[in-house]
Amino acid sequence: MERLASKEEVRQAIGAARREGKRIALVPTMGALHEGHLSLVRAACSRADYVAVSIFVNPAQFGAGEDYESYPRDMARDAGLLAAEGVDALFAPSASVMYAADAEVTVDPGPLGELWEGAVRPGHFRGVCTVVAKLLSIVRPDLAFFDEKDFQQLVIVRRMVRDLDLAVRVEACPVVREHDGLALSSRNAYLAADERAAATVLYRALRSAETLALGGECDAPALADAMRELVACEPLATLDYAAVVDRVTLAETDALEAPARALIAARIGATRLIDNLAIEAG
Ligand code: PAJ
Repeated sequence: MERLASKEEVRQAIGAARREGKRIALVPTMGALHEGHLSLVRAACSRADYVAVSIFVNPAQFGAGEDYESYPRDMARDAGLLAAEGVDALFAPSASVMYAADAEVTVDPGPLGELWEGAVRPGHFRGVCTVVAKLLSIVRPDLAFFDEKDFQQLVIVRRMVRDLDLAVRVEACPVVREHDGLALSSRNAYLAADERAAATVLYRALRSAETLALGGECDAPALADAMRELVACEPLATLDYAAVVDRVTLAETDALEAPARALIAARIGATRLIDNLAIEAG
């Protein structure tokens, strides 16, 4: 596995792969890799001839008072995991390589960036879009892999690629979960034992909405209420939002006509977790 720290090194390595006619994939991450990340890497390896993974804890997508400084970082471990998966290149730039000191231009995610996570984390999706656009522009992959775990991020990245005519195909992969349903997340490492047990409430709430929908409940606000009630029973959890939304516009739906998505975000102690699930009427 090549380890690339500068944009120039990336362009040379990718240029060489492209001259060999290879199909190139990028998996953008912030590191602290877990099986969820590795499922994206495996999907990329099965679909492309040359797989680049980026590890960059992007300061632009963290708000003041969020966990940018304390975000888990373990480059040696991550590099070992990626090499074992057969990844071709690891791009791990420093913040000063990634952003010019006087950088001013950013990518506006539009109204989708104001909803849900965007409402709780102002500027978050501007930071995500800007760094993803930069990574796509540096690596110029044929395919870029994102996961449904961050459903709003996936929807916004797809929209950015479409609206800006970026020459890449976005591939989506399903969420990887623990045996008890908790979605894998680098932030799960912050949870104390009692919080870890309480954290399953997100998935339990999503499943209760799914079960009700499959049982014939088509009123989306009623499904969201059911999720809220379940979270209210968990003393260590504080709900940020629970909603059933359209899969493309992310607007809250009234009736379950088209396949929808249940979204949930809650704080378990001091740790903020998000999750989501496909919802279809039975
Ligand atoms: P990060 O949180 O490291 O996630 C990188 C990729 O892994 C994203 O596509 C995310 O959806 C996916 N992922 C996270 N948890 C997962 C799980 N349990 N199962 C499967 N995949 C999972 O998302 C980011 O980084 C950043 O915002 C980034 C896109 C890299 C831009 O900075």
